[in-house]
Amino acid sequence: MTSREERSRAIRAAGWNLFSLHADDVLIDLLTDSGTGAMSRDQWAAIQHGDESYAGSPSWFVFLESVQELFPFRHVIPTHQGRAAEKILFSVIGGRGKVIPNNTHFDTTRANVEASGAEAVDLVIPEGRQPSLIHPFKGNMDVAALEALLRERGSDVPVVFVTITNNSGGGQPVSLRNLRAVREVCTRYGVPLFLDGCRFAENAWFVKTREEGQADRSIPDIVREFASLADGMTMSAKKDGLANIGGWLALNDDTWAEACRMLLILTEGFPTYGGLAGRDLEAIAQGLREVVTDDYLRYRIRSTAYLGEALDAAGVPVVRPIGGHAVYIDARAFLPHIPPLEYPGQALAVALYVEGGIRGCEIGTVMFGRHPDGSESPAAMDLVRLAIPRRTYTQSHVDYAIEVVRAVASRAGTLRGYRIVEQPAMLRHFTARFEPLG
Ligand code: F0G
Repeated sequence: MTSREERSRAIRAAGWNLFSLHADDVLIDLLTDSGTGAMSRDQWAAIQHGDESYAGSPSWFVFLESVQELFPFRHVIPTHQGRAAEKILFSVIGGRGKVIPNNTHFDTTRANVEASGAEAVDLVIPEGRQPSLIHPFKGNMDVAALEALLRERGSDVPVVFVTITNNSGGGQPVSLRNLRAVREVCTRYGVPLFLDGCRFAENAWFVKTREEGQADRSIPDIVREFASLADGMTMSAKKDGLANIGGWLALNDDTWAEACRMLLILTEGFPTYGGLAGRDLEAIAQGLREVVTDDYLRYRIRSTAYLGEALDAAGVPVVRPIGGHAVYIDARAFLPHIPPLEYPGQALAVALYVEGGIRGCEIGTVMFGRHPDGSESPAAMDLVRLAIPRRTYTQSHVDYAIEVVRAVASRAGTLRGYRIVEQPAMLRHFTARFEPLG
């Protein structure tokens, strides 16, 4: 617990950047759902079973079997988290002159593509950029736009990515039908298709409950069909691996896999543990078994919707339908008097913290507004994400968060924008320092 005065002091000392707070000064931490979940009894039990052999650990084989049960790619390369898989892959296949399409690149994915010299292009369907518009699969790729890009620059495209669910676009799912259409275009142009699979189980739940003809299928069956349409994937096990750390790169291509494994050994570790301890591999293997169960997913998706529906009912503009892992407040609509280049998302996120010790995350012009050449323009949307850690908070915590958002909404007109006084060349949202305007 902290008082409002303590929080005002803490956020000022943090340069009004929520990433720079001491987490002890946060009451309900909705910054991310990444690695912040509570592990189950059986995951903790699995940890005790971890074997720390450098090469060929039994824990590696438990992990491999669990991954391939859902994603039967030929090569599985363990990494310490998702971005390590991205860094390795784009170091091998990216580079100057290349272009990587995605429904929407997550921040680290975009940064890793751009760090290799390649260009990152977001091709989500137009509905996916309109926060309040209802559509069952707002994460879908714009297949016509993808085809146009491949027709024009196909030889510059080493891979097409589809992110499930579409995190930066509101945690919105991709339909099986859309992925089949993307696959068809990729096959026609001879370009491999990869999944960014961070929230694959949540995506499969949306497919089961929203897509015609899918209701009677099991979640593992739906996941395997997604995998069968792709040639590889990157994964952060900190999301739907239900673990606190971990990830992998999986793929079918032998030549790419060999090059990736070489980089893995340079930066992460031997190919049977990557950047992980044997006990981490065991925790992920068990997490993958739990995450595809109906009871877990029903609880997960409903509890996120509970927060979103309450805010919607209170007249707070949120991305609809409510996403899987988070509720996204439309800060541009919430604070129409603050222009995008004065960072309405940042203003709202800071206000939620000062009001009630809730930490959310700006996903908007701070995160995506600056380009590799140093210029700045408004991002497609200015959102504040309230991400829900898995199996961590109770309904009363969430009820409190709802009260805090309502309190800020009642004085929205008094909030002011920010300017950036210090920023690094890339991924500025993590470390930039701000100052309130006016
Ligand atoms: N791809 C997506 C769609 C993600 O959401 C993330 C991480 C990554 C890749 C990178 O994985 O963190 O294990 O290196 N998202 C977290 C978030 C950090 O808060 O949404 P990582």
